[in-house]
Amino acid sequence: MKNIAVIGYGGQGAWHCSQILASDVCNLTGTYDIRQVRNDAAKANGIFVYDSNEAIFADTTVDIVVIAVPNDSHEYLVINALQAGKHVICEKPVEMSVASVDRMIAASKKAGKLFTVHQNRRWDVDFLAMKKLADSGEIGKPLCIESRIQGSRGIPSDWRCEKKHGGGMIFDWGVHLIDQMLQIYKQKIVRLYCNCSHITNKEVDDGFKLDLYFEDGAAAHIELGTYNFLAMPRFYMQSEKGSAIITDWRHKCHVAKLTKWIEKDVTPVQNAAGITKTMAPRDSLTLDEYDLDIPKSDVHEFYRNFCLAIDGKAEQIVKHAEIRRVMQVIEAAFLSDENKQVVEVNI
Ligand SMILES: NC(=O)c1ccc[n+]([C@@H]2O[C@H](COP(=O)([O-])OP(=O)(O)OC[C@H]3O[C@@H](n4cnc5c(N)ncnc54)[C@H](O)[C@@H]3O)[C@@H](O)[C@H]2O)c1
Repeated sequence: MKNIAVIGYGGQGAWHCSQILASDVCNLTGTYDIRQVRNDAAKANGIFVYDSNEAIFADTTVDIVVIAVPNDSHEYLVINALQAGKHVICEKPVEMSVASVDRMIAASKKAGKLFTVHQNRRWDVDFLAMKKLADSGEIGKPLCIESRIQGSRGIPSDWRCEKKHGGGMIFDWGVHLIDQMLQIYKQKIVRLYCNCSHITNKEVDDGFKLDLYFEDGAAAHIELGTYNFLAMPRFYMQSEKGSAIITDWRHKCHVAKLTKWIEKDVTPVQNAAGITKTMAPRDSLTLDEYDLDIPKSDVHEFYRNFCLAIDGKAEQIVKHAEIRRVMQVIEAAFLSDENKQVVEVNI
């Protein structure tokens, strides 16, 4: 069993504490938050509270430190924890620039301690269903995958509204959606375009539309909205031999697999104020439609893997190169939005 301490007892720090308390691979030694009210909340939940972050670093029984504080404070805490000889799990987004990520990776290598990022949405079942379908080749190679999350409550009214703390939706949800997409598409990104929205907040993005173009011609559309009163499907995949859709993150994956391209006779259909053959439904002999079950998932696998990786018994699931690649996409997305231009990349 590895001993873990959690820095920051806000929403996500408390979530980590409850996960670790229920764990079969790690113990919670305690937490520390700079706000007394949050330390009091931890104590009320029966959790030991350290006197400071330095007290956590000095505790020789602690193997792993989890960093769960606002985004602009990740780098120095990660580096201090590594230098104190701890393995480190940092919340997403790892930080706010590639330069920052490089310093954290260098500190991990220098200290000889593991460092990873909590990309927990790799365990989302909707994403796992899409990835499984794409990897299997059941409906051929994906041509374009669309990933959308749309809500209607704006940005939470905390540090997420402020640029200096790394607020905005690209850093909040975007990092998950980009990371998921890059788990499906491993080929190089050659071009991207991003357009951010500022409907409820001028300082940081309250949503974005990001298009990625890959070297083999495949594409991805990633969209996050916080001012959408109706939501579009969670995932849509157009592939060489069919299409797939997941309407909601708990729903089954609906697949339409092409069995034959040529149809015998196409009867035009009346559609709005005209008729069309092009958009007429296909005959059922050329298409096979079915639902795929959503795969099983256990997000605790994240901690299990990290503990095994520390003992050299597994490869770390969330790898440095992947963490860096996501941040490269984020940097290029901000540049594209700022200049309102397509950005040529090699990511
Ligand atoms: N992986 C996920 O699904 C997920 C979900 C939510 C948040 N997060 C991430 O977790 C991090 C924290 O977000 P949150 O929602 O918990 O925010 P929060 O505001 O609820 O909590 C952050 C806490 O950190 C404390 N803090 C700030 N600086 C500190 C420091 N130097 N030392 C100790 N404590 C400090 C604050 O007092 C606060 O209580 C962010 O990076 C966020 O992006 C990840």
